[in-house]
Amino acid sequence: MFKKLKNCHNSKDFRSLAQQRIPSPIFHYIDGAADDEITLQQNTKAFEKCDLVPNILRGVEKIDLGVTLMGKKINLPLFFSPTALQRLFHHQGELAVAKVAEKFGTFFGISSLATVSIEEIANSYSSPKMFQLYVHKDKGLNNSMIEKCIENNFDAIAVTVDTIVSGNRERDFYTGFTSPPKLTLGSLTSFATHPNWTLNYLLRKKFELPQLQNHVKQGTDITVSVGDYFNTMLDQNMNWETIEEIKKKWGKHLCIKGVMSVEDAKKAVDVGATAIMVSNHGGRQLDGSRAPFDQLAEIVDAVGDKIDVICDGGIRRGTHVLKALSVGAKACSGGRMYLYALAGAGEQGVSKAMGLMKEEIERGMKLMGCKSIKELGRHNLRFR
Ligand code: LAC
Repeated sequence: MFKKLKNCHNSKDFRSLAQQRIPSPIFHYIDGAADDEITLQQNTKAFEKCDLVPNILRGVEKIDLGVTLMGKKINLPLFFSPTALQRLFHHQGELAVAKVAEKFGTFFGISSLATVSIEEIANSYSSPKMFQLYVHKDKGLNNSMIEKCIENNFDAIAVTVDTIVSGNRERDFYTGFTSPPKLTLGSLTSFATHPNWTLNYLLRKKFELPQLQNHVKQGTDITVSVGDYFNTMLDQNMNWETIEEIKKKWGKHLCIKGVMSVEDAKKAVDVGATAIMVSNHGGRQLDGSRAPFDQLAEIVDAVGDKIDVICDGGIRRGTHVLKALSVGAKACSGGRMYLYALAGAGEQGVSKAMGLMKEEIERGMKLMGCKSIKELGRHNLRFR
């Protein structure tokens, strides 16, 4: 069925809208994951393993969805995970997401592989900002990104630790997805049948990866798949000392993105991280790895009183957020939950998607009989 933004009421609708509006190699890059995509599915299915137990008659006309994350008060316990290459999905790219984050008073992040610069984001938006750092072999590049975050007063750096090598993203092999995108015989029809996307890509601001391009040509001047980029450019020897060095140089809130074990969560506390994102990179890396929600309780039990635990991935509904918060997450975050909307309808799409999530969280809270996030707890959850 032909989709329009006004007919989008949930993330499945935004997914269909995106599929309709952008060339298929790009859609499948967003939508796809590693190997058999089991983990991608599990990340959302995990939320079905438990049920909410509501309370009633608690006077819930006025409720507060605010939480404090990495020292910043945000108005919503949900934020935009940093994701790469956003101007490929829609010409408004990261700036659109930043604007919506500001509107909703929540965190957002830009990726090392973002298509706008740290400076541009810092100059335009006041909402709390996270920079996602890929640790490259090129130390000069790592230092330059950290220095720019310091100069531009970013609030947090999230170091991604689950991309030591790339996951096996077979959809990208089939479609030939690269950065920058390459017209191949196979993908030609898809670009030709999405003239709006193609014209925007060709006529608007040139595709670039400002954080990287003065240091590495791959991804901008040299066409490369994201898999090859990870495998050749990132530092496979990074370890806990690397994190300590980053922490020392950066000096502000450090979040480790991609922690899945209790052992690592404890180490994150030891190295002075302020937050961890319990995440498997949206199922795009190690297929067969556990869903963040399934892994949340043991991590919260071990470190929840010492560090902000963020449940990242699989979130498609407000009730998913409520379940993760009930287990003890400080906040939730996600990528596809807004990327489909960005790809489908730019800022308007992201705003609608986040607005719907906010309404769902609000409605869920009221139906649960909760006036503030701290009232949610394991007492209101039952695992089947
Ligand atoms: C990905 C990276 C770039 O998952 O975050 O494709």
